[in-house]
Amino acid sequence: MFEKSSSLCMRDPQRVQDILMSMQKSGSNTLQVISDFDMTLTRFAYEGKRCPTCHNILDNSKLISNDCKEKLKELLNTYYPIEIDSSRSIEEKLPLMVEWWTKAHDLLVEQRIRKDLLATVVRESEARLREGFQLFFNHLHEHSIPLLIFSAGIGDILEEVIRQAGVFHSNVKVFSNYMDFDESGVLKAFKGELIHIYNKREGALLNTGHFQELRTRPNVLLLGDSLGDLTMADGVQDMENILKIGFLNDKVEERKQSYLDSYDIVLVKDETLEVPNAVLLYLT
Ligand code: C5P
Ligand code: MG
Repeated sequence: MFEKSSSLCMRDPQRVQDILMSMQKSGSNTLQVISDFDMTLTRFAYEGKRCPTCHNILDNSKLISNDCKEKLKELLNTYYPIEIDSSRSIEEKLPLMVEWWTKAHDLLVEQRIRKDLLATVVRESEARLREGFQLFFNHLHEHSIPLLIFSAGIGDILEEVIRQAGVFHSNVKVFSNYMDFDESGVLKAFKGELIHIYNKREGALLNTGHFQELRTRPNVLLLGDSLGDLTMADGVQDMENILKIGFLNDKVEERKQSYLDSYDIVLVKDETLEVPNAVLLYLT
């Protein structure tokens, strides 16, 4: 099933096979998919150049002043290396990640961003879904398999990316940070509890209603690119099987072991959805 992919690594191939067989036996009506967005459904790089996250789409846009762009870039240069630093523990990184998200959101709010310009900004951006995204989204929709996109990015931007790509189907549900606009359509705050890279477990537990609705689907395919994504399925009720696929995009050598220890399948510098698609085709 995986012969085509040279980027694929597994610590325990037998375990992966057992999980897959068990999931296939249960049938596709017991399956749900939970996926991160930035750098998981979207590409990390294209033609040697980094692709933007939801935040970067805004940061680099015409809606942000040059002065603010500088500040946002400084934040990125300070905190992104911490995010991917394998020598620091999650406990150590967590308060710093909250600091990053909070400072960035405060700066964005200062820019008085207009809701009616978001679609244009996304259209003009270099956001790119991974190769194979049509098959991924369309196949899940055709088989009525729920897809939860669970993102510490910006929900309004993420939705626009998948809407413009023509894949925001009715089976897609999004948990993310949503913008709150005033009555004239200007950004005034972000809604609800902040979702950052290391509190997806708390985010999942706040949304028990969603998982309650899906309690007849105890088999989970989880896709992520960060170790923080591993807790996205913590709200799933009566879980039977979970197959975790992790994209390892950056700092490969330093992080490979920790990814192999926590994801069932690790895709190293793979810019496609070929492997998740192969899994879906096998399971449906
Ligand atoms: O886990 P998820 O992919 O949803 O996290 C969002 C990503 O957005 C993080 O990997 C982080 O690098 C990025 N980010 C950003 N600008 C910020 C905050 C986060 O690009 N201000
Ligand atoms: Mg991500």
